[in-house]
Amino acid sequence: MSQRELIQQFQEYLNHTRRIVFLTGAGISTESGIPDFRSADGLYSDPANLSLFDISAFLAEPAPFYRFSAKFLEVMEQAQPNPAHLAIARLQETHRVTVITQNIDNLHQRAGSRTVFCVHGNLEFSRCVKCGHRIATRELHPVIRQGEVPYHSCGGVYKPEVTFFGEPLPEEDWLYSQRAIEEADLLCVVGSSLVVYPAASLPGYRPRTCRLVIVNREPTPLNPEADLIIHGDAGKIFSPIT
Ligand code: APR
Repeated sequence: MSQRELIQQFQEYLNHTRRIVFLTGAGISTESGIPDFRSADGLYSDPANLSLFDISAFLAEPAPFYRFSAKFLEVMEQAQPNPAHLAIARLQETHRVTVITQNIDNLHQRAGSRTVFCVHGNLEFSRCVKCGHRIATRELHPVIRQGEVPYHSCGGVYKPEVTFFGEPLPEEDWLYSQRAIEEADLLCVVGSSLVVYPAASLPGYRPRTCRLVIVNREPTPLNPEADLIIHGDAGKIFSPIT
């Protein structure tokens, strides 16, 4: 089938569905200017970035993470929701839509999606790793913009409430995500390589009656189980979806 026919098939599935769950990854935001991790031009193509989101590396030396954050802050502030985020938000008008995202860019929320579970946390707040003092991350922006490390007055370093490798996932978001998938009529994975666990295990909670659609530039390990696979750019693929 041509991509146009595949998209028509996707729209057909949606027209006969009530409860949709989208599981999204960094790939849904690359057309908004935010690089993903594992594409050829992704963040991890630079080996220096491989331990950026590793909790033991961060606690040993937070400076590399905050030097990266100084650049990334600019990219995030310029990023706008793209047609994929907007189409997913639009579908709320006619469907019960749950978004489960691995992303921390807040683009689903800014696109208007109301039910968004962030299984890798989010950037909104940061905590002192020593005493647990919680602060809105934007209050640390002046320090972060300089590429400096933000410290709490107690001497502990602030860390954003993003799930680093080696940390547990936010329990509530995980449980709600699992439950949403257990009740889904259609699960659509968008822009994820599905190689990072436990997030990549979420599709396993779908009922046998749930259709599985994968929208991704490259094949994923879940492709053999999909009812429909559309390889290509999410923004383009979702543009005609209503
Ligand atoms: N449209 C569709 N797919 C895309 C697009 C696009 N515009 N851009 C990239 N992709 C695909 C890539 O081909 C890749 O398969 O999106 C996928 C992104 O995969 P990753 O970079 O591995 O991102 P993700 O799956 O979200 O990573 C999971 O890993 O590093 C951790 O915590 C981090 O949440 C992240 C987790």
